[in-house]
Amino acid sequence: MVDFFIGAKVFTLAEYSEKNASAHAEQAMKRVFITGASSGLGAALAQSYATQGAVLGLVARRRELLEELAASLPNARQHRIYALDVTDHSALASAAADFIGATGGIDVVIANAGISAGTLTEYAEDLAVFERILATNVTATVATFAPFIATMKQQAQAGSRDCRLVGIASVAGIRGLPGAEAYSASKAAVISYCESLRVELKGAGIKVVTIAPGYIDTPMTQVNTYPMPFLMPASAFADKAMAAIHAGASYRVIPWQMGVVAKLLRLLPNCLYDFAFSRAPHKSRNAKL
Ligand SMILES: NC(=O)c1ccc[n+]([C@@H]2O[C@H](COP(=O)([O-])OP(=O)(O)OC[C@H]3O[C@@H](n4cnc5c(N)ncnc54)[C@H](OP(=O)(O)O)[C@@H]3O)[C@@H](O)[C@H]2O)c1
Repeated sequence: MVDFFIGAKVFTLAEYSEKNASAHAEQAMKRVFITGASSGLGAALAQSYATQGAVLGLVARRRELLEELAASLPNARQHRIYALDVTDHSALASAAADFIGATGGIDVVIANAGISAGTLTEYAEDLAVFERILATNVTATVATFAPFIATMKQQAQAGSRDCRLVGIASVAGIRGLPGAEAYSASKAAVISYCESLRVELKGAGIKVVTIAPGYIDTPMTQVNTYPMPFLMPASAFADKAMAAIHAGASYRVIPWQMGVVAKLLRLLPNCLYDFAFSRAPHKSRNAKL
């Protein structure tokens, strides 16, 4: 075993390489564009990246929350705010162009903006909610990534390290949850879409990372009245997600305990799944989107 001395500490070769790789990743992951940054996971990711010295593009509809967040972050004046609706694809493309122009490139794009509400197919009025959830959670993920890909490819050709496109899916996308027909369908679509894109971009200098959160403590889950196993604080989620993004993981469930549950759920035959989940609690149909 080869040991290295750094200060008073002795490192094994593996520890030294990991430390070096992580320091290199942190140095390089400097320009980060995050949608859904006004609240919850997006705001926590912004905090974690800004603490590491990143310059951020912060996207959401509520400008005042973005301004408050940006003012509270390290390097407050360097971050750029884009108050827009992610279903407005030309506004997203303009924001991407502005961010690339201002920062000289892009390292990480996190398509995190999302909405959740209970939906039931039998109610005609829920069709519009289905469309809104799919537009925000799925189509807007595509529209968030699209304007960055050409720049990422150019950076890779010029010799930069791999950039990251990060899709925020959900454990709810692994099996269809009763009462969450639109949300489960949207997150299953995010998982499959990100996998397609990952394979498509293999070798192009862009890593596509799919993160599937379990239950994380944010305004989205604070309205739930049912028990949420392994509920995790948003700041802890953000640190783990940032590590997975730096590592270029293809797919990561956070927290890991939910990853085990997700694997078991995948293996469960339909008859057992249907029996176990037929009485599962439902998300409210009247959630404000
Ligand atoms: N919390 C969990 O346990 C959990 C679990 C699995 C997956 N997720 C996923 O994680 C992501 C973040 O959720 P969260 O828990 O942080 O929820 P949250 O606190 O409700 O935050 C959602 C964010 O998305 C933004 N957003 C929603 N619709 C938008 C639109 N049309 N245009 C622009 N921004 C929009 C919101 O900003 P504005 O309202 O200001 O626009 C807000 O910043 C979502 O994709 C969610 O599905 C969360």
